Amino acid sequence: MNQDQLKESVAKAALDYIQPKLSEDSVIGVGTGSTANYFIDALATIKTSFDGAVASSEATAERLKAHGIPVYELNSVSYLEFYVDGADETNDQLELIKGGGGALTREKIVAAVANEFVCIIDDSKMVNILGEFPLPIEVLPMARSFVAREIVKIGGDPVYREGFVTDNGNIILDVHNMDLSAPITVEQRINQITGVVTNGLFAYRPADVVLMGTAEGVKTLK
Ligand code: A5P
Repeated sequence: MNQDQLKESVAKAALDYIQPKLSEDSVIGVGTGSTANYFIDALATIKTSFDGAVASSEATAERLKAHGIPVYELNSVSYLEFYVDGADETNDQLELIKGGGGALTREKIVAAVANEFVCIIDDSKMVNILGEFPLPIEVLPMARSFVAREIVKIGGDPVYREGFVTDNGNIILDVHNMDLSAPITVEQRINQITGVVTNGLFAYRPADVVLMGTAEGVKTLK
């Protein structure tokens, strides 16, 4: 199987995972990226068996709507049983790096609200120690240079993602060569830098379950 086939298989596995707990009132949190897109397409096949979705990005909202799936504002939803999304890296503690697509802030918010975060990846995303994938940080535009200098002080090499603006009107710094062997500590440390909106470490609130597509089938990690 190629990587796209693995992503599609794991998206279908996520649908099988959540379906038994869905009712006609259920609203599902939906992530962003190519794996999440396969999940949206799978979700469309059962759209009459749940109420709608909360989207973690404008792109996801558009794709959901194109399938005729109602999209709700997070503030109008009282309960989310599931948040389903991909990741850029995962370790065996189910801690993640996310934000390769730049949607990390809304992803982190929807994940925080959901009762269960179901992360869907192909096996190329599993690592021993997070950090080979550059860590995305969403930053208020006027704080870009300040935050970059602060990141250098704590051992990272920030690279401005040129020409990219987030759905929230902010910029992204992609941080290379950072020691992420203690992900919760680093996540909290970066959050203390004034001007940082969100960083792409999902360690304080990791995934609850990772469904990983492999050539031998989908593996479930809890
Ligand atoms: C979007 O901002 C990211 O967090 C994605 O969830 C992550 O980049 C995974 O994307 P793919 O499923 O496209 O690899």
